[in-house]
Amino acid sequence: MKLPYTICYTSVANDLDEEDVNRIFEVTAKHNNECQIQGLLLYSKETSRFFQVLEGEKKEVINLYHEKILKDPRHNDITDVFHKPTSKPIFFKYTSKFNLIKTSEDLKEIKRYIEEHKYSQANSDEVLRLLEPFLILYS
Ligand SMILES: Cc1cc2nc3c(=O)[nH]c(=O)nc-3n(C[C@H](O)[C@H](O)[C@H](O)COP(=O)(O)O)c2cc1C
Repeated sequence: MKLPYTICYTSVANDLDEEDVNRIFEVTAKHNNECQIQGLLLYSKETSRFFQVLEGEKKEVINLYHEKILKDPRHNDITDVFHKPTSKPIFFKYTSKFNLIKTSEDLKEIKRYIEEHKYSQANSDEVLRLLEPFLILYS
């Protein structure tokens, strides 16, 4: 990867039913796998919140975020957690595929992964803290 970069944000869904959410997950998995963008997308039914981490080549990640995600009318209140170059992508080694986190087992696996990398990844604490509400909901 030429210039690895990461964007992390949370947002609030605009009245989406399960089918709408599934469609977002399907498009995201297909496109991100094709473009070698990694990370994870979480959706909480209880809070109607999305949490997304994107990792990939800088131009690709920034374009996706600005041209598609920020303009998408299916969510609002998009709050950036961070935008930054990353020497060691957090989700890079977890899987080469985009992660669709839908079950408590998936969430536990992500948590374990982040905890394992706690001391070698500068921003893992921040990510873990943001993930807490999602993890608690399913624990
Ligand atoms: C919360 C949220 C996250 C999304 N994340 C991605 C993503 O990571 N990759 C992606 O291709 N599309 C993502 N989308 C969908 C895009 O906004 C867009 O609908 C999709 O890329 C299809 O664009 P197109 O119709 O112009 O091809 C996301 C949408 C939402 C609401």
